[in-house]
Amino acid sequence: MPYTSYRGLSTEDVDALYAYLMTRTPMAVANKANTLGFPFDQRWTLAAWNVLSLLAKVAEPDPNRSDVWNRGRYVAEALGHCGECHTPRNLIQAMRADASYRGATIEGVEAPDITPDGLRRMGFDPHGLAQFMRLGLSAQGGATHQMFDVVHFSTQHMDEADLTALSAYLFDRDALPSEPEKPVAPTPVAVPQAVASRAQATYAGLCAGCHGQAGEGIPHVSVPLRTNALMRVASGSGLVRATLHGLPAQRFPGNERMEAMPPFANLLDDTALAELGTWMRAEWGGQSAPVSAEEVARQRAGLRADASK
Ligand code: HEC
Ligand code: HEC
Repeated sequence: MPYTSYRGLSTEDVDALYAYLMTRTPMAVANKANTLGFPFDQRWTLAAWNVLSLLAKVAEPDPNRSDVWNRGRYVAEALGHCGECHTPRNLIQAMRADASYRGATIEGVEAPDITPDGLRRMGFDPHGLAQFMRLGLSAQGGATHQMFDVVHFSTQHMDEADLTALSAYLFDRDALPSEPEKPVAPTPVAVPQAVASRAQATYAGLCAGCHGQAGEGIPHVSVPLRTNALMRVASGSGLVRATLHGLPAQRFPGNERMEAMPPFANLLDDTALAELGTWMRAEWGGQSAPVSAEEVARQRAGLRADASK
């Protein structure tokens, strides 16, 4: 329950939420038992945590910024609570005020940096981001994991004005620019020829059928990889994870859907997947840091541990 963010909700919005909830038919569902270990199962510890973590006041509207920017801040920080997943946490698990939106890991999945620089690095421009929050799909790929839920249950239902404001705020603009701004495409980085040819052969054999010869994606079937955010974010862990585990078929707003992506854990060994990831991220994302076989092995071990639960 992200009450740390919801405490910024206006009284009007909380009243409206309450009025809406009161129109729902009650259901008899037993309360879940508290499964946390000592001392986290003690309620008073939360009070102590609140004293330490909720020191910062909820932001007041900034008179030096536009109404759009201020509305966007309210949508991002209170209603959308984007920081709960995208802001790294300190030792006592409170959001770090000095690192808002700089990226964090949620249940093993990287929630990327969504500061203006981070967004541009992934290939988003202000108009593209507003559209992504409505559709869950873009040239940067599809929303998956917790981000799929965010779009599915929440942002797709926002009106155009709120999506515009959200995007303007995250890009730190007072208004969206009149024209879409094309972000600079990354410059490919060279990888050793032998690695590149093995990776290209793997890509052509296993991936191109669904993702296109040049990683351009196939509308209504699969997402583009060439322009995908996972090629450009700091770590290759998301690319490795999707390839090892696969992804479920997902329905997106506007009757759009993506097929399921099969898991490749049995078809690619650690080195082959590391080389494939290294080449894709260098060629398409301009990332020089290679994906290591150790990273693949680590995620594969996690996969086995999950399967034996
Ligand atoms: C419950 C956790 C959670 C919340 C809340 C959340 N995100 Fe995310 N977000 C994620 C995760 C996890 C990813 C990475 C998903 C992936 O790799 O596909 C992500 C990815 C993204 C991306 C990159 C595109 C993509 O899907 O990879 C953008 C942009 C983004 N989030 C914006 C937002 C904004 C704006 C908000 C607030 C309205 C928000 N997120 C709220 C967890 C969250
Ligand atoms: C049978 C078709 C199919 C094949 C083969 C396939 N994929 Fe996919 N892939 C998909 C689909 C469909 C999605 C989108 C799934 C979704 O959004 O639910 C996807 C998503 C992904 C993603 C996540 C992208 C994002 O935007 O979050 C990555 C990374 C990926 N594939 C890599 C690969 C690699 C690498 C290979 C080859 C080893 C491969 N895929 C082979 C169908 C396929």
